[in-house]
Amino acid sequence: MSSIRCTGVRVEHLVEPLGLDTARPRFSWVPEEARQNAYEIEVEDRAGSCVWATGRMDSPESVLIQYDGEVLRSNTAYIWRVRAWAEDSPAPGDWTSSRFETGLLHDGDWLAQWVTPPQESGQVERWSLNDWIMGRKPEAAPEDRLRPVQLLRQEFIVGEGLARARAYVTARGSYSLRLNGAEADDQVLAPGFDSYTHRLSAQCYDVTDLLSVGGNALGLALADGWWAGRIGLTGSSAQWGDLTSAIWQVHLEYDDGSSAVVLSGPEVRCSAGPWRYADLFVGEYFDRRAEPADWDRPAFDDRQWWPAAVGDEASARIVPFSGEPVRRVATVDPVLVTGSPDEGFVVDFGQVIAGRVRLTLPYTERGQTVTIEHTETLDAHGEWFINIDGINKEQTDVYIAAGLPGGETFEPTFTFHGFRYARLRGLAVQPTRDELAAIVIASDLEAAGGFHSSDERLNRLHENVLWSQRANFLSVPTDCPQRERAGWTGDIAAYAPAAANNARVAPFLTRWLRNLRADQLPDGQVPIYSPRSPFDAEEAETGSGLGAIVSSAGWGDAIAIVPWTLYERYEDLRVLEENYDAMCRWIEYQRQAATELPASLTGDSLSHERRGRQALLYNAGAHFGDWLTPSTLAGRPLHEAIGIAPALTAELVAPMFQAQTLTLAERTARVLRKDDDAVDFSRRAAAVRKAFCEEYIDGDGRLPVHLQGLYVLAIAFAMVPEPLRDRMAEHLAALVTENGGRLDTGFLSTPHLLDALWDTGHRDLARNLLWQSELPSWLYQVDRGATSIWEAWDAIAPDGSVRAVSFNHYAFGCVDDWFFRRLAGIRQTSPGYRSVVVEPDFECGLDHVSAHLDTPYGTIAVEWDLHDGGAELSVSIPFQIEARLITSDGEVPLPPGTSRHRIHVPATSLV
Ligand code: BGC
Repeated sequence: MSSIRCTGVRVEHLVEPLGLDTARPRFSWVPEEARQNAYEIEVEDRAGSCVWATGRMDSPESVLIQYDGEVLRSNTAYIWRVRAWAEDSPAPGDWTSSRFETGLLHDGDWLAQWVTPPQESGQVERWSLNDWIMGRKPEAAPEDRLRPVQLLRQEFIVGEGLARARAYVTARGSYSLRLNGAEADDQVLAPGFDSYTHRLSAQCYDVTDLLSVGGNALGLALADGWWAGRIGLTGSSAQWGDLTSAIWQVHLEYDDGSSAVVLSGPEVRCSAGPWRYADLFVGEYFDRRAEPADWDRPAFDDRQWWPAAVGDEASARIVPFSGEPVRRVATVDPVLVTGSPDEGFVVDFGQVIAGRVRLTLPYTERGQTVTIEHTETLDAHGEWFINIDGINKEQTDVYIAAGLPGGETFEPTFTFHGFRYARLRGLAVQPTRDELAAIVIASDLEAAGGFHSSDERLNRLHENVLWSQRANFLSVPTDCPQRERAGWTGDIAAYAPAAANNARVAPFLTRWLRNLRADQLPDGQVPIYSPRSPFDAEEAETGSGLGAIVSSAGWGDAIAIVPWTLYERYEDLRVLEENYDAMCRWIEYQRQAATELPASLTGDSLSHERRGRQALLYNAGAHFGDWLTPSTLAGRPLHEAIGIAPALTAELVAPMFQAQTLTLAERTARVLRKDDDAVDFSRRAAAVRKAFCEEYIDGDGRLPVHLQGLYVLAIAFAMVPEPLRDRMAEHLAALVTENGGRLDTGFLSTPHLLDALWDTGHRDLARNLLWQSELPSWLYQVDRGATSIWEAWDAIAPDGSVRAVSFNHYAFGCVDDWFFRRLAGIRQTSPGYRSVVVEPDFECGLDHVSAHLDTPYGTIAVEWDLHDGGAELSVSIPFQIEARLITSDGEVPLPPGTSRHRIHVPATSLV
């Protein structure tokens, strides 16, 4: 008889979450040691009363079991436990206990008043896309344009016998919370980036241990953040509002059952503090001399401070923050420091990151000014080079020392930069390596997988992908952490499957999808990025060309692709339910827009049949197309060249994504048991594919534009019936071969490139693309010393010259998914990895691969080595997963636990 244990217990994908945003939480666990055939869950409140007991449930389910007990209250701690029965055992395993807490779930829970410190306005800076292209810059120095960070404080009394204290806080701006002189916790840049017009996330802090009987002080430093600071391509400010403000309530519960709540309101006092300014793009200016000692402790004399203005007009909904906050997630030590006091010291941290420099100054003079500039790369001669040019992209921090006897340490609070190199000025002596650190900040997602191979370059590529994921999973999924820092929909649609191998991305992307839905336009358009500000909306109305795009094929489809990816990886049904209507509205928008003819056909007299077919295809209007297709960029300045791929490919790319999204909607409808919808979507998808095929594919399987990416998408999205598909694949293979075995695919098609070749029998071409090291290729970047994934393949050209582009864009890192699915060969065959096949590619050119994936049903691990004409394979499969091994020797079921296999491998065809 086997014993069974429930491990990895989670609520809403998270371990012991605080301040949960739902009254219908879902419970998950991983049954270990045996296969589960029954479970039991109990939930009780802090007083020990049971609010839900399932009794024994005869079911193998262990993922996202929805709470179905008494109504859960706001701001309440619950204990829950689970136990399971093994298939062959009448007795249950032991209970495993855990906890979760709800946040303020209802609008009516917010009793506090918004507090607005007196502050200068007039720093609103609005720039257009054209200003950006023309290289216009603000004339005045930042200290003359930006305003100080505000300090806010409130004192309150805590009585005897405090049992539990939770602070709920949010702001329009970025804040850092302190209680009695200590940081409330380790998160940074709260409340995070949201579509503030519609929703504002409130953090929940456990502050029980920070409070004491008697007088207490809450201090809050309030900077512009995403709300009022500079963000997006143009670096315009105050996109959601000009004034910053905050709101909080501290809930106190005592042993005797009594409670009290401290509310932000008229007694809050405010003052400017040590930050002359702080901005996400420009950087932070911190004057240690101006820090009021003990301002965040009780008994500080704030009589000279200003009262806050209270009250609020129209406000967005405050919602409990869901997911993982941004934290300091790693520290990178410098590898080299060079330079002199006059020229400045250049520090190479050896790694492109998103974060900031922490500088320790053992000796300072009062008033000494130290500046820290940041960049991702040096130029071909090793000289300082700014790879991100643009308005307000200074990325420069300024520190004014106080001359404290024991030395001083500075790390910015309200900014972050994309960099590998920092240049320090204002230092009389070269800092030692241990006085310098690069602090990596990111949304603190839990790691979920690992990959290692016998090839160091491939390992480096995987590391680079991880670094770019980390740098761009920063409150929302962004394109890059230096230039725009925007939640571009197309980038995450391309990258989401790869992301899910490396981290548990469900809470992070679910929260972002809520923002995306909030930003969806009334006519169903899904915007090109989210959060999208009212300013962005105005800009698009007055803009022209690419600047006027509101939604784009391949970008808007994130509303179907990202939820479907989360469902596939985590079996998360709710994410499909939540996004279904938005998906349908996007599809409806496309249906209506399809009636417009593409520019290439207007003026033509089309036959009745052709007009009918064209009216089904969403192929008109401006789109980004297969963005950054390499051959379209060569030899022209980037801002000119980027329009070429859209012009060449949009008409074809858009209806292919239209068909694919209809197919994903069909699958979603089936899962949600909306069978009539599913039938309708399936019929419409078939009609779009047929029309596309008749309009754009000739009898020999050729497309009117002969680019790799278009063939890739046509194959990946099943745009053609079988015999033609093979012809198309031959054209694709020929294009790759003619291009010297190199890719020529953009953002939208690269995620499907290797699969399109593999699935149509061109396996060696797919394998060789991975090993290609000439431009453009993944290993070219690695050979050029990349430590992250670049926006453009030739960010560093073969002659060593460096382009002013982002060195930290994850989109082309999508290849990482291949490492897990093909090289290690772990592929799901049902949602959540409930069933999988393991089919490693022993002929991929590697001698060794090891990989693991933390799935909802436990960790799958694969490790293989080539020896003596065969492979030694070891596979670990959790008890709840049905697995099959597929090799050239045939197909066999894989038992739970670790099994070892010897596999015959034909001589590799790789050179
Ligand atoms: C961003 C992208 C984005 C694109 C839209 C760029 O400026 O950096 O990654 O998807 O615009 O085409």
